[in-house]
Amino acid sequence: MKTIPEHVAIIMDGNGRWGKLHGRSRSEGHYAGSKTMEELIDASADIGIRILTLYAFSTENWKRPAEEVNYLMSLPVKFFNQKLPEFMKRNIKILISGDIENLPNKTRNVVIKAMNETKNNTGLIVNFALNYSGRNEIRQATIQIIKDVKENKISIDQLDEKMLENYLYTRNLPDPDIVIRTGGEKRISNFLMWQSAMSQLCFVDELFPDFKQPLYIKALERVQQGDGASVSLIQRM
Ligand code: IPE
Ligand code: IPE
Ligand code: MG
Repeated sequence: MKTIPEHVAIIMDGNGRWGKLHGRSRSEGHYAGSKTMEELIDASADIGIRILTLYAFSTENWKRPAEEVNYLMSLPVKFFNQKLPEFMKRNIKILISGDIENLPNKTRNVVIKAMNETKNNTGLIVNFALNYSGRNEIRQATIQIIKDVKENKISIDQLDEKMLENYLYTRNLPDPDIVIRTGGEKRISNFLMWQSAMSQLCFVDELFPDFKQPLYIKALERVQQGDGASVSLIQRM
């Protein structure tokens, strides 16, 4: 790789189809996806990427069948209970972008614990977009800005793009250099609407559970070769 991207964001799509394709349930697909996610976190730390943002659950995903939603909400509990000691060893810092307040108690508690325990780590930042909506992020920023103007904490003339960014979940993080979506769909699905304005987009046909380290590296290299100046479609690699 010529230069190492600072911030990579991934729309982890295709878990449900992967489960079906392998004669298993959608939830088993999500579990397989969580294993791939672990591999990509390791790979990102090894490559020297500074921030990895992973789209884990969108606010639209609440519309799915209760059984699947319950499983998706139980996954972070399993995931962090198992992986936290290793993240501490690897100096990995966990952030969450999204509406944490409205998560089920168990899920909220475990992600808050993960953020607290890792807050002084200085290595790879893994930023989970969980109960996330790009439009809602901008909406809640707008509400807070209006409040701050009313309370004379800021004045309207001061409000430039940098200041607005301080009201987003991703405050203090640089914009993603690259947004990768697996699973073949060429959609943004309400992900990082503000932050991805200038990002390179990379659409990969493989379903997320199959998007292991070698494909990840290949995708990053393809984008760097210039294929991804606007949109790069990686055909079955
Ligand atoms: C994972 O892929 C994304 C999540 C919402 C967790 P999907 O569950 O959307 O899988 P497909 O797209 O239906 O195959
Ligand atoms: C995007 O995938 C959201 C996540 C990866 C969490 P979806 O499968 O939910 O998005 P749509 O339905 O294709 O827009
Ligand atoms: Mg999907």
